[in-house]
Amino acid sequence: MSTSADELREQVRRRYAESARSVTERTANPGCGGGSCCDGDVEKFGEALYDAEQRGELPEAATLASLGCGNPTAVAELNAGETVLDLGSGGGIDVILSAKRVGPTGTAYGLDMTDEMLALAQQNASEADVANVHFLKGMIEQIPLPASSVDVVISNCVVNLSTDKPAVLTEIARVLKPGGRIGISDIVAEDRLTPTERAERGSYVGCIAGALSKGEYEAGLEAAGFEQIDVTFTYEAADGLHGAIVRAVKRP
Ligand SMILES: C[S@@+](CC[C@H](N)C(=O)[O-])C[C@H]1O[C@@H](n2cnc3c(N)ncnc32)[C@H](O)[C@@H]1O
Repeated sequence: MSTSADELREQVRRRYAESARSVTERTANPGCGGGSCCDGDVEKFGEALYDAEQRGELPEAATLASLGCGNPTAVAELNAGETVLDLGSGGGIDVILSAKRVGPTGTAYGLDMTDEMLALAQQNASEADVANVHFLKGMIEQIPLPASSVDVVISNCVVNLSTDKPAVLTEIARVLKPGGRIGISDIVAEDRLTPTERAERGSYVGCIAGALSKGEYEAGLEAAGFEQIDVTFTYEAADGLHGAIVRAVKRP
């Protein structure tokens, strides 16, 4: 029996609410494992992707809650005074790091649909003593920000979890200013893999089954109004599926 988009989204929400609770309650193996994005290989996912200097800037709970498959703050060029939006901000790690990079004259927004993650992120931002952060509750398919209000959109292992990727890419283009840019870490499939073959290699909530292929990502970004599109594989997460860096610029 196929799973509807609403059911899939609810599975994702429940899985990441559980991750947030395990960090808040400091139970064993807080984020990685148990079917989450970093299930199975903690060297390639989560906090291991941040260098010692970055980890030193963060509260322990923010690093523990890291469930990403890259480090978008290392690939997105962020300048003082800019507005950054992190899609699927989880425990807030990339929002806090971005807030420090854009400085007091800039703003970092985190958007997430899971209440438990938003509460954890808020607590982490208070502990990190960053004032220029705002966490928003909502869906990445319907971003609750005005058009042309953001300089840079980042995201870390979340687009693959969306049940409506064209809507996500269209929304990113809408909120970005002309010339605005994206620096996204995600799991991306080789073009040779069919959706069925992707699903054979891992679960949807584990960030594998819902991965776009490289060609699908490039075509989706082009259709949404981007140029200078670059999807680069960085490591193999499963046979034919890779951690990847996705960069593009909104057409003026
Ligand atoms: C794999 S975790 C990554 C969290 C964070 N980016 C990090 O690197 O640690 C996925 C996060 O995206 C959120 N999420 C997944 N799908 C979403 C959607 N459609 N809209 C908003 N948030 C979503 C989940 O609640 C969860 O916090």
